[in-house]
Amino acid sequence: MDVYELKAHAAAAAVEMIPDGAAIGLGSGTTAEIAIRMLGERVRQGLRVRGVPTSERTAQIAHRAGIPLTTLEEVPELALTFDGADEVDPRLDLLKGLGGALTREKIVAKASRREIILVDETKLVRVLGERGPLPVEVVPFGWRRAARELETLGLQPELRWSGDEPYVTDNGNYILHLHTGPIRNPADLNARIRSVVGVVETGLFLGLASLVLVGTEDGVRRISAEGRQKARLGPGHG
Ligand code: A5P
Repeated sequence: MDVYELKAHAAAAAVEMIPDGAAIGLGSGTTAEIAIRMLGERVRQGLRVRGVPTSERTAQIAHRAGIPLTTLEEVPELALTFDGADEVDPRLDLLKGLGGALTREKIVAKASRREIILVDETKLVRVLGERGPLPVEVVPFGWRRAARELETLGLQPELRWSGDEPYVTDNGNYILHLHTGPIRNPADLNARIRSVVGVVETGLFLGLASLVLVGTEDGVRRISAEGRQKARLGPGHG
């Protein structure tokens, strides 16, 4: 089974959970996009739903899938959001944002009663930062100064590029990738990064996930925030 199929299993399980009439958040990234296309199918079959997209790309895909869109101004509280993640630790804390949409994703997650995270099993880690860099959104004005300050925290910032130009987020900002290595204390690191002037948001999503749906070779494993101690994830995973 390839990674696409694992993601699709998790996506299908999430889409089944969406109740008729709900206003929901639509995540960004390849896994969320699979779920959006599946949701489009349910909408064609008669499901009534409105979605708040977490990126311009997601808005386009949802529009093409026939999903009516709305905004947080119109609907400040959402029943649920489904979204992907780059890393999930045993506490269900997340590292997100390698797709560049982390700020809108976090705003929408905060506005949601339930944040449902869809991953394939390769995203489960013992410690956040094990697999990749931590994305951080910064305002372009004076970004080098912010980067230098992050460097003094030992975080090795690297500007994200799109071809020959800096990558620009939907909010008109830049992304710095911080090479943190394993993050032993995510809350402390998050606070230190956010104290740097010019930092808009980080890709650390702490205490936000309600449920993680993991696509595995054996089907979908559900890990809820309440029941995570019982999750059968092997040593180090509760
Ligand atoms: C987008 O900014 C990210 O937070 C994605 O949710 C994350 O990178 C996971 O993406 P994939 O589903 O493509 O792995």
